[in-house]
Amino acid sequence: MNRYIYGPTPGITEVLERVLDTLKPKSMLDLFCGSGALSKLAYIKNVEKIKAVDIYVEAAKKNLKKLKKVEIEEGDALKLDSRRYDLIVADPPEEEIKQVIRELREFKKKYVKAMVIWLGPYHKASKIIKTLSRDRKCIIVEAWGDAVGILWKKRGHKEAIEKALRNMQFI
Ligand SMILES: C[S@@+](CC[C@H](N)C(=O)[O-])C[C@H]1O[C@@H](n2cnc3c(N)ncnc32)[C@H](O)[C@@H]1O
Repeated sequence: MNRYIYGPTPGITEVLERVLDTLKPKSMLDLFCGSGALSKLAYIKNVEKIKAVDIYVEAAKKNLKKLKKVEIEEGDALKLDSRRYDLIVADPPEEEIKQVIRELREFKKKYVKAMVIWLGPYHKASKIIKTLSRDRKCIIVEAWGDAVGILWKKRGHKEAIEKALRNMQFI
């Protein structure tokens, strides 16, 4: 491994954990997987099929090698294959958050239940929050100083997510 890998922030980790607990997805796509920590969380929560994507996969391969049901793919997280997943989590670097938001229409075709997106440190995310809050099927929370967006498909999922995220600051 030739570079230092930053893990996920506590904000997206806690939001993802709560969403996993409430929606109980059977499959998850972990975009910008980095260390693989969010895939490992999904594995612990009994998600049956997990795919982890990053342009650098050395760390994920090392950290997830014992987890048979996790598929690791080296590639661009913004170029999706045709498969659908119950849940997508996207934890991009700050400089690629806008691109993820621009591609939301494509992402929406790929998740069945929900998508969790790291939107950056809350104090720097006001423009992204403004853009995303126009989406009627989106909840944004502040968690551990981060802004995290959760997109949902069905009303039942929205209610479950809101309940799961109780005690967090809704934006
Ligand atoms: C904030 S870190 C993700 C942390 C990760 N969630 C974890 O659990 O360790 C952002 C990651 O995005 C990756 N990355 C940056 N641009 C990418 C792209 N276009 N496609 C896939 N991965 C990308 C970086 O290599 C880095 O690992």
